[in-house]
Amino acid sequence: MNTSVFENYESEVRSYCRHFPTVFQQAIGSDFIDENGKKYIDFFCGAGAVNYGHNNPQIKQKLIDYLQNDGIIHALDMYTVPKREFIETFEEKILKPRGLDYKIMFPGPTGTNANEAALKLVRKVKKRQNVFSLMGAFHGMTLGSLSLTTDKISRRGAGTALENVTFIPAPYMFPELDTVAYMQRLIDDDHSGVEKPAALFIETIQAEGGIRVFEVEWLQRVRKFCDDNDILLVVDDVQVGCCRSGEFFSFERAGIQPDVVTMSKSIGGYGMPLAITLFKPELDIWKPGEHNGTFRGNQLAFVAAKAGLEYMLENKVEEQSLAKGEIVKAFIEKEILPLDARLELRGRGLIWGIEFGNIPVQGLADKVEERCFKYGLIIEGAGRKNSVVKLMPPLVISEEELVEGMNIIKQSVQEILSEI
Ligand SMILES: Cc1ncc(COP(=O)(O)O)c(C=O)c1O
Repeated sequence: MNTSVFENYESEVRSYCRHFPTVFQQAIGSDFIDENGKKYIDFFCGAGAVNYGHNNPQIKQKLIDYLQNDGIIHALDMYTVPKREFIETFEEKILKPRGLDYKIMFPGPTGTNANEAALKLVRKVKKRQNVFSLMGAFHGMTLGSLSLTTDKISRRGAGTALENVTFIPAPYMFPELDTVAYMQRLIDDDHSGVEKPAALFIETIQAEGGIRVFEVEWLQRVRKFCDDNDILLVVDDVQVGCCRSGEFFSFERAGIQPDVVTMSKSIGGYGMPLAITLFKPELDIWKPGEHNGTFRGNQLAFVAAKAGLEYMLENKVEEQSLAKGEIVKAFIEKEILPLDARLELRGRGLIWGIEFGNIPVQGLADKVEERCFKYGLIIEGAGRKNSVVKLMPPLVISEEELVEGMNIIKQSVQEILSEI
């Protein structure tokens, strides 16, 4: 395995390659194959970017046809056929059936780009600088999104002040604290020292924060709090959108409508770079060109995104996500949690986390992930001190591979626990 070119010339900032030290060559469905021909089951799923599987054949064919036809690839934000067809599909097949009315904006292609656009817009609309974000949140690495993000390592990279954000304890942190009442108090109390925010940013399931699923009742109360106080509610669905949580939008289970929704990752259908910022039409006060950029609307990504939505609907991926989630839950409850009473399981749809943080030994989850890699499973960590092993396979994974992957986790957990 020759990795010297990376070690010699690629910046020290490289990250995931350190956890998965091989050179990958191919990816099919739920598998990666490295240049030595070794197969790995993928429980990381491009951090949520390939929900419909690697090289999904139905989507791939649409891309091949488009390329063979000399379809336009780069067009800034000009009107193009793929963009028209994507917007029409999104409007007709996703928004309308859910009774959602949003304008769609194409910022740069990443999740953090979608959140930067949302941040600018809410401040512009409400003419307030402060925003509320939750402790445990991850919203991206560019300065605006990073100001909303709480983990120390990410924030340390900023090199400058990250301002105008008030962090609210997440509801799971202090069970005795009513976080909604706390936010109300911050706003009402003329001695709180906190400026009224333009918006509250939330993930309905904190993914990087350790697979923390927020309760429906809390989400509904948060919606009401925002309505009552003229504050915009922004849901970051970058990671848990596109059916990951069981429904296409993660907030659907609460029956709420956010004012702004950000998406990226699997909205690109095939791992293609695409992000969208959705907002209620009355918020669309942008002036033309006020949030410009060269790569806003990769045409191949539009083709893949439309094909991805069609694939998702035809193959009932929402249902697959919930059904496979039940398989994961049952397996872990039966086979893994009994290995140590201090282990905990959290999740919904097809995103699950096994919490090792209650066992007072540092780095256990990291060790489990390393061992899994040795046995041919790609899996990542999340949460405080990276103490959660996060299961996030492609939503279209077969049941056999799902169980095969979980058996690797079981074996790895058994081994690591026996070594402490
Ligand atoms: C909830 C959430 N928001 C934003 C981002 C940032 O997305 P990107 O890495 O594409 O900038 C991520 C990335 O993991 C995320 O999980």
